[in-house]
Amino acid sequence: MSYRVVQWGTGEIGREALRGILDHRALELVGVKAHGADKHGVDAGVLAGRDPVGIAATTSITEILDARPDCVLYTPRTPSVPVVCQLLRAGVNVVTTSFAFHQARARHRDELHDACREGGSSLHGTGLNPGNLGAVLPLAMAGMCREIEQVTIQERADWALYDSADITFGQMMFGAPISDVTVDSPSLQYTSELFQQQVWLLGDALGADLDEVSVDLELVPAERDGEFLGRTVEAGTVAGQRWRWRGRRAGATVIETETLWMLGQRQPRHWPSPQHGWTITIEGAPSLQAHVVTLASFRRDVPMSEHVHAASVATAMQAVNAVPAACAAPAGFVTMAELPLAWLPRIATS
Ligand SMILES: NC(=O)c1ccc[n+]([C@@H]2O[C@H](COP(=O)([O-])OP(=O)(O)OC[C@H]3O[C@@H](n4cnc5c(N)ncnc54)[C@H](OP(=O)(O)O)[C@@H]3O)[C@@H](O)[C@H]2O)c1
Repeated sequence: MSYRVVQWGTGEIGREALRGILDHRALELVGVKAHGADKHGVDAGVLAGRDPVGIAATTSITEILDARPDCVLYTPRTPSVPVVCQLLRAGVNVVTTSFAFHQARARHRDELHDACREGGSSLHGTGLNPGNLGAVLPLAMAGMCREIEQVTIQERADWALYDSADITFGQMMFGAPISDVTVDSPSLQYTSELFQQQVWLLGDALGADLDEVSVDLELVPAERDGEFLGRTVEAGTVAGQRWRWRGRRAGATVIETETLWMLGQRQPRHWPSPQHGWTITIEGAPSLQAHVVTLASFRRDVPMSEHVHAASVATAMQAVNAVPAACAAPAGFVTMAELPLAWLPRIATS
């Protein structure tokens, strides 16, 4: 069986998702939704950096619905709940890297749930972190434990390498005056909520009975002026963010996601120093630790930019590979804790 899929958004993740859909044996690309008018009418293959495939990108939601997709793979920079509700109500399943990691614990729960019910459709949020490395892998590891005291997920990354200036500076507020940046800054609140959902998801899936998920942010000022992704970051503005989302029960931290994010300079000495990438630690019986890094290849000698881009490929493919299972799932919210692990990506034959 093949599922009719629309790729919504053609940014860093969207372009990779587009390639993934075109290559997937169980998916058929039936449309591409672009935000920028400059992409309206451009062939999907060209947007994916390949030969034309005969499907033109559109900025029109009506044209997207007219393509009768089974699923929209939704990767805009910022999600729109009314738009997602419109898709869900029209009977279109939505798989997204942008939000909905544990919608049952999040804002807009009721309107999204009603839209799913009305359309008989499902909504699934996934990716890398939040996503496979922040939720699926910790749950898989937890299956080896008799008892769990604490689960910690750490992400250490340099944002100077992430190829999306709008997200690094606009959404994540690197380079902004320190005094302007708090956990309540609207664009950071959006990101923070996604990680809070992930902590709730782990807590609910593991039966941790969390009372709350707390949020802490420590900012690091830039030591000197620097040029990153074509922009100047002035000395004293935000060059580092250490976030901690802690799921607590009776005052004790049971589940924690921590990010150690720097922009082109060394992190402070007092921060923990796991290797770059993602480190999952379970303190329990037994205690387990896994470190994951995404690279373009462990064999080939490739430019650093390709290695960095590998995380975007992984994010996009996690969503692409989830489409058949999300489409087959019952209507409503479908979390990463519920989908099967084996989505069978293709094995390279050459
Ligand atoms: N869960 C994870 O692990 C993970 C990892 C990375 C990213 N993400 C999320 O995935 C999403 C896509 O990330 P990305 O790196 O691809 O971002 P990006 O490169 O900035 O691209 C996002 C796309 O959004 C569209 N867009 C721009 N302004 C918009 C607006 N005002 N309204 C609606 N759409 C707009 C554009 O589409 P067009 O090009 O079509 O005009 C743009 O290319 C983001 O929500 C990001 O937070 C999740």
